[in-house]
Order: sequence, then C-alpha cells, then structure tokens
Amino acid sequence: MSEAAPQPKAQQTVTLIDNATGKKYDFPVMNGSVGPRVIDIRKLYAETGMFTYDPGFTSTAACESAVTYIDGDKGILLYRGYSIKELAEKSDFLEVCFLLLHGELPNGQQKSEFVNTITRHTMVHEQMQFFFRGFRRDSHPMAVMVGTVGALAAFYHDSLDIDDPKQREIAGHRLIAKIPTIAALTYKYSIGQPFIYPRNDLSFAENFLYMTFSVPSEPYKINPILARAMDRIFILHADHEQNASTSTVRLAGSSRANPFACIASGIASLWGPAHGGANEAVLAMLEEIGDKSRIPEFIKRAKDKNDTFRLMGFGHRVYKNYDPRAEIMRRTCHEVLAELGIKNDPLLDIAMELEKIALQDEYFIEKKLYPNVDFYSGIILKAIGFPTEMFTVLFAVARTVGWVAQWKEMIEEPTQKIGRPRQLYTGATERAYVALDKRK
Ligand code: CMC
Repeated sequence: MSEAAPQPKAQQTVTLIDNATGKKYDFPVMNGSVGPRVIDIRKLYAETGMFTYDPGFTSTAACESAVTYIDGDKGILLYRGYSIKELAEKSDFLEVCFLLLHGELPNGQQKSEFVNTITRHTMVHEQMQFFFRGFRRDSHPMAVMVGTVGALAAFYHDSLDIDDPKQREIAGHRLIAKIPTIAALTYKYSIGQPFIYPRNDLSFAENFLYMTFSVPSEPYKINPILARAMDRIFILHADHEQNASTSTVRLAGSSRANPFACIASGIASLWGPAHGGANEAVLAMLEEIGDKSRIPEFIKRAKDKNDTFRLMGFGHRVYKNYDPRAEIMRRTCHEVLAELGIKNDPLLDIAMELEKIALQDEYFIEKKLYPNVDFYSGIILKAIGFPTEMFTVLFAVARTVGWVAQWKEMIEEPTQKIGRPRQLYTGATERAYVALDKRK
C-alpha cells in the first residue's frame, strides 16, 4: 500500500477587518526558525490603501536575518545560534568576527587565514594622518570617527564596487581591521601624543591596547587580564540584531551607498546617549551622583514623570529581563578591578549600590528595567584608562563587524529594495501661496 504523499502545510493567515467598510483582507503569516511569527504586510497598501503606523518600529520586522537572535523576555542573545555566554568564555573576537560574517565557526586553517588577513589590513593610508590634523584636538572622538571612517571611501577606491563579492569582502576586512587603528589615532591625536603603528605579532585586543597606550619612548607591557577583558567587551558588543545603528547601516546601504559611508552612518547613530553613548552617560551619571547617600534622590528623579532624568545603564528596548551581556560584564568588571588593585573605587561603590537598590525598587521591577551592558562596561573602560569620551568609540570598534555582516547579508539578498518608509501626514493640506504683502 503506497503512503499518502505529504500534504503541504496550510498557509497560516491573519485576517484584517476594516470596520469602516466591512471588507476582510487575509495576510500570510511567516515563521522564522525561532521567535515571534511575522505578518507579511507587503501587499497591505496595494490591497487596502492603508499603511501601518509603528514609530520606533516596536512591532516591525524590517528585514529577514540569520545573523543574531535575541529573546528579550528570556534574556537570550545568540550569534549565528551560539550563546553569547559560551562565545565570551571560549572564543575570541576574531573568531566571532568570522562567525558573524560567514555563519559558521572557522576550522583551524580558516581561522589562521582570517586572523592573518585582518592583521595585515590594520595600517591606514599614510595620508589619513593629515586628515586627522584638520580636526581640533578637543573634538569629541565620535565626531572624528564619523569623519575619518567615512573618508576611507576616498582612500580605498578598489573596494567600492558593491556588486563585486571580492570587493565587498575586502571592504569588510578593511573596516574591521582599520577601525581599531583609527580609534587609537583619534585618541592619540586628542592627547597630543605621537601616532603608534599597529603590530602584527599581537592579537586584535592586544594591538588595540598597544596602539592606544604605548609611547615610542619606552616598551609597553601587555597585561593579559586587561587584553582578555578588552576582547570580551568586543565580543559582547559585536552585534545586536536590528538596533538603531544597524538599521541605519541597512537603510544607508539600501540606496547602494558604499560600505565605508554606510558604517560611518552607523557610527553617527551609535553616538546618541540612548544607544552607544549610554556607557559614557553612565559614568557621567555616577560622577553626578557623587556619593552613595545621594542615590535615593536620583532614584526619585528617575521615577518622576515630570523629570526627564533616566537612570543611565538601566532598561532596554528588547531585554525585559537581565541583559545576558551585563552578567558577563559584571564578572569581567570585578576581574579587572582586582587585577588593577582597585578595591574602593567610589564610582564602583555607587554603581553597586545603585544596582542593588534599583533591582529591589517596585518601579524598576514593574517596568522590567534591569542593568544593561553599558552599566558595567563604562566602569571597566575607566579602570583600564580610557577617558569617557572614548567609550562609545570602543563600542563602534566592536560593532563594526556586526554592521558589516548585516550590510553584506542585505546586499546579498536577491529581493533587496531601497528602504523607504511611509508616514501618517498631519500637516497642512494643499493651499494657495500668499504674497508677502498679504501675509499677517
Ligand atoms: N530610568 C527610568 N525610567 C526608565 C528608564 C530608565 N533608564 N528606561 C525606561 N524607563 C521607563 C520610561 O520612563 C517608561 O515609563 P512609562 O511607561 O511610565 O512612560 C517605561 O520605562 C518604558 O520606557 P520606554 O522609553 O518606552 O522604553 P524604550 O524601550 O523606548 O527605551 C531605552 C529603551 C534603552 C532607550 C531606555 O530604557 C533608556 O533610555 N535607558 C537609559 C539609556 C541606556 O542605558 N541605554 C543603553 C541601552 S543598551 C545599549 C544598546 O543596546 O544600545
């Protein structure tokens, strides 16, 4: 007896009823490999003449992606299916870069080839030095980063053709390799020290610390605990799904702009205090609090609807549970402080007390406002010796690989279209021009 042929699964749909006209419309429902189902509304306007309204994109899947998965309620973050916790403990940043770019962990040969490629792209065009010298020395480093990363397009003409897969790959490698060099140059320029060239015998994190903190007049000793902490910070910030800066990179790239310009746009978006600028804002807030006795006053302000103050480093658009990156960061933070012999850091004391109080406070519990990754990263970076203005720059160094992986995924998508959201227009309707002498 022959078995019945398997029947295709019935297409799931969602029905929209327009109460004004009584008309019904069916829309297909799409399933990802995990996570919420998605209503496919691509034909919504054609069929109903209506748009959806979702400012802040809180309910909108803007793309299909296989790079990073977040379950904000459970506090899960996966890069290509691997948990962030395991990667932070067992992997290293360049291996994570390969994983994000290619979808799989590298084998031994792939890893050494990749490390070799990135290491050999770390120098920047010598003429970039003159470009730096045009900035004021007291410029915010993120302003310098936006300008200089965008300027890479003016120096590397041979990797601007986004239709050539080889050029796309080279542009990606250049961005990942050169961004720490540019970040270190930015720092050196701001403090008036000589620029330090990269060293190929060091790991990604070691080389970054070396370019940032060494001077030509004496040898620089790499501290392995600090290098490991730096590597972990890079891993934890490498990608985070469709956040504001990644969406900015995708939107810029959707118009077929070159990858250097797209990553510069991501850096601009990351600069904001609600996004990458939060770790800098955390430190500023801890300094403003100044003493543990003043914490209740600030908690009160954070809860006051009429006060715009928010506890920096708390809350997240997606995580409504403990940010899994924050847990790893908390441990790393203690390792770094122990290594550096910082026992009674007043800012850390305030941070720990603030965390304790906020986790017990009804307001924060009810709104599910947990400490996020930036709450601890600022303290680690300060202990290592970075000035606060550099914190968001370090976030950009780490996130570049995520932006590149997401940009590449978008460009390689056959049905890719320019991103063009619509709007709910609430301005004046058409009216006649009024001559100057007739205006009130
Ligand atoms: N302190 C006090 N109240 C807060 C905070 C906070 N940090 N965050 C959110 N709330 C309140 C907010 O006032 C609102 O209350 P109500 O419902 O009564 O109006 C409620 O919680 C929901 O806030 P929301 O602004 O609608 O939430 P959102 O998802 O739009 O905002 C956020 C997410 C990260 C922008 C916000 O939590 C925030 O501003 N946090 C501080 C800045 C920060 O630490 N940002 C780093 C995010 S992690 C790094 C990254 O991935 O980029």
